[in-house]
Amino acid sequence: MMLEHTLSIIKPNAINKNVIGDIIKRFEDNKLFIVGLKMLKLSFHQVLFIYDEHKNKLFFDDLLQFMISNPVVLLVLEGYNAVDRNRLIIGHTNPVHATHGTIRKDYADNITENAIHGSASKEVAKKEIYYFFKKDEIYKKIY
Ligand code: CMP
Repeated sequence: MMLEHTLSIIKPNAINKNVIGDIIKRFEDNKLFIVGLKMLKLSFHQVLFIYDEHKNKLFFDDLLQFMISNPVVLLVLEGYNAVDRNRLIIGHTNPVHATHGTIRKDYADNITENAIHGSASKEVAKKEIYYFFKKDEIYKKIY
């Protein structure tokens, strides 16, 4: 097993539901430790950076408006197989298909307002983490 870093973004609808603490607890309970954390209101350019591959999709405008509507919380998570385990805890993109106990099953409103984002791969995680965090903003956890 590999000790990895990944990024999660708690989306505006989850912020409005006051479940930041519950979401962080789910990660910590699953040994995905918080080594970086920021709350910010994303800009158009930041949303475009994260979702560049979707910029020509029909849903992009709705996704953009949603992502800039309120602050988000950025979490750098550290743990064994963090990228894949983060995605399991988050659940399916479409909450209709999300399994019981996942974050999206509990807090997503629909496929766009789906409560949380998780990096898709190790390469994407690196790109997303270092776009939002300087190296010295990531805590070096002692085990
Ligand atoms: P996320 O995992 O953050 O990555 C891309 C986002 O685009 C996704 O979550 C949803 O918020 C949104 N998305 C993906 N597919 C669709 C779709 N078919 N319709 C609407 N929004 C989508």
